Amino acid sequence: VSLRPYNTFGLEAEARYFARFASADELRQLLALPEVQAGPLLVLGGGSNLLLTENFAGVVLKNEMKGLEIVEEDAATYAALLRAGAGESWHGLVEYALGQDLHGLENLSLIPGTVGAAPLQNIGAYGVELQDAFERLEALEISTGQLRVFSKEECGFGYRESVFKRELRGRYIVTAVVLRLHRAAARRPLNVSYGAIRDTLTDLGVEAEPTPHDVSRAVVHIRRSKLPDPADIGNAGSFFKNPEISQSKFDELQRRYPTLPGYPVPGGVKVPAGWLIEQAGFKGLRRGEGLGTHGVHARQALVLVNHGGATGAELRALADDIIRSVREQFGIELHPEVNIL
Ligand code: EPU
Repeated sequence: VSLRPYNTFGLEAEARYFARFASADELRQLLALPEVQAGPLLVLGGGSNLLLTENFAGVVLKNEMKGLEIVEEDAATYAALLRAGAGESWHGLVEYALGQDLHGLENLSLIPGTVGAAPLQNIGAYGVELQDAFERLEALEISTGQLRVFSKEECGFGYRESVFKRELRGRYIVTAVVLRLHRAAARRPLNVSYGAIRDTLTDLGVEAEPTPHDVSRAVVHIRRSKLPDPADIGNAGSFFKNPEISQSKFDELQRRYPTLPGYPVPGGVKVPAGWLIEQAGFKGLRRGEGLGTHGVHARQALVLVNHGGATGAELRALADDIIRSVREQFGIELHPEVNIL
């Protein structure tokens, strides 16, 4: 089975077996099959954080568990718990919440992928991370077929990190996520800490207090202006994480590169990988036949792109070259954010 329709890089790779599931029971039945037991197993959501570098000699299961439902409403605090099936589209969930007058997710508008993939890497954008709105998730243990609820603490969220990428890697399949959202009457402030959001709101003519819809519109506008749409150009969003370095290392680099941006984080400074990659000369680079089959996005250096006809191995080679150049020039180690298979 070709996996090309199931990864946003649009890369060609074959899986030996491919099946979809829309309920926990269907998933359990699949997990009991000898072909699945033999492994290896890959569970796919939107395939938006995946670099396929070779064929997959096992079973790919696509999560299509649906459902959007307000499961609890707290009249006193104007909070509501919204439960979403793991196979729902993330942006569809954001729009559904806005349509229900629930806010908390507007900064996370237009992130590609599914609800079930969101907690694995604690998706984040424009000052908000999934964990800020997270209540709990439900996941099925692969070895026993049992459903288990994980609290926020048990998920061990970090920057683009969770327990499901570390200690529990490959052991659970997320089936649903429950988010804690707020009605306007809760008077929770919107997050417009990013200058880009404030500037875009002004550009969009929003003068008074922005609504959650306004913030969502601004985020959609910003993302469309610098991130390539996977429907047009294959990509998986940020390819690398933004690295954290010590304050002393940052000070030393800033003496050499006075324009180096940095954001304080506990224990050091986070620097934008996009800036490092741009300085290393990769922004807009194209490699491969003709005008180039793959390269680095011209408007956001953190995004690697497949212009058409690239292989996963070529993209990985490009990523390796970027890592090496940034290491040589800045002494900083970049780590992929995308899952490389
Ligand atoms: N920059 C450059 N050149 C570039 C790109 C960025 O110099 O080509 C510098 C600029 O100084 C800019 C700064 O990097 O001000 C930050 O850039 P941007 O606001 O675009 O954000 P980012 O740090 O590159 C992160 C997330 C994005 C998220 C944005 C907005 C990671 C790995 N990426 O990117 O997430 O949308 O912030 O909050 O943390 C994703 O994970 O797939 C993703 C797109």
